[in-house]
Amino acid sequence: MKTAPVLDLDAIIDDPGTRIIVCCGSGGVGKTTTAAALGLRAAERGRSAVVLTVDPARRLAQSMGLSELDNTPRPVVGVAGEGRLHAMMLDMKRTFDEIIEAHADPDRARQILTNPFYQSLSSSFSGTQEYMAMEKLGQLRRSDEWDLIIVDTPPSRSALDFLDAPERLGRFLDGRLIRLLTAPAKAGGRSAFKLLNAGLGIVAGALTKLLGAQVLKDLQTFVSALDAVFGGFRARAEQTYQLLQAPGTAFVVVAAPERDAMREASYFVERLAEERMPLAGLVVNRVHHAPAAALSAARSTAAAEDLESRGEHDLTSAVLRMHAGRMYLAAREQREQEHFVSAHPTVPVTQVPAMPEDVHDLSGLRRIGELLSAR
Ligand SMILES: Nc1ncnc2c1ncn2[C@@H]1O[C@H](COP(=O)(O)OP(=O)(O)OP(=O)(O)O)[C@@H](O)[C@H]1O
Ligand SMILES: [Mg+2]
Repeated sequence: MKTAPVLDLDAIIDDPGTRIIVCCGSGGVGKTTTAAALGLRAAERGRSAVVLTVDPARRLAQSMGLSELDNTPRPVVGVAGEGRLHAMMLDMKRTFDEIIEAHADPDRARQILTNPFYQSLSSSFSGTQEYMAMEKLGQLRRSDEWDLIIVDTPPSRSALDFLDAPERLGRFLDGRLIRLLTAPAKAGGRSAFKLLNAGLGIVAGALTKLLGAQVLKDLQTFVSALDAVFGGFRARAEQTYQLLQAPGTAFVVVAAPERDAMREASYFVERLAEERMPLAGLVVNRVHHAPAAALSAARSTAAAEDLESRGEHDLTSAVLRMHAGRMYLAAREQREQEHFVSAHPTVPVTQVPAMPEDVHDLSGLRRIGELLSAR
């Protein structure tokens, strides 16, 4: 098999030029774990790091001292060495509120914050979480308090959502439908717009039927208020996009050694290249290795069948079957990785074995950090 170059994560976290590491990948592959482990390792190797997590498992959050969703980085207790680590959980609604509060005078801010459309948009619109993760990243970077920011990405179905959602949300908020909805209020009264307004009136009328008058009114007030306050969602999404293209950024793509996750990782790697975003490499997480690999799956199965046919040594035959299962699994995982490597032979890769237990405390993270960097 072709061998991929080895991903040297220690070199990346030790490099003072690395300012942002983004851990991305499809759902459930280990993004949050990897981000937290890299943060801890970077801090213990002397850097001042902050980890921005999204939806960490409760026990992991607790072990990092994250008990509240208050959107501010908290120091993590128990970090060894000279460096320091802060961690925060992204609260998307709170981040949204903060933007409004920072940009609007108090009256206007209250008007927006209590608007029902705003409330549902800020907590449930698809893409909001991705948008807010980027927004928070921009804030942390501008504050310049940390020399390394590690970003975990939201549990999207597709890894690409992280790149696409902010632009999509920006397009929606800056888009034609919204303009249409807000136009009658802005253009009202001017005779030159009469005809146009009549047309818009029909549209608005139809939407009123569809959405109900109150909803439409809420939507209109919300969007005009928001637009007056800080407009240009799209421009902001683009700014963060540029931050992601900067040379100090490193994307770490995480995948499980399974078909869908590896395929998703492939798409993502290609997309990063198209966008000229700096890829560090691929972490294949939760890899299974079979001990006693000298005993092949086929021989192990044959031996088990032999024992079973004689009705002897139940336990031994069960162990032999288990071993065969592990060997098949390891081979399947190996094939999935080979597909990736032959499609992307220059992408550096590292593997992390599947641990017997979930990773939920600092010592578990430290262990993952060592495995991430093992060469
Ligand atoms: N190498 C590993 N060995 C064993 N368990 C692991 C390993 N890596 C991650 N896990 C466990 O797998 C689960 C999912 O990991 P994690 O939350 O990091 O994934 P994620 O990609 O962030 O998921 P989501 O897309 O839902 O945000 C967690 O319970 C974590 O402890
Ligand atoms: Mg996660």
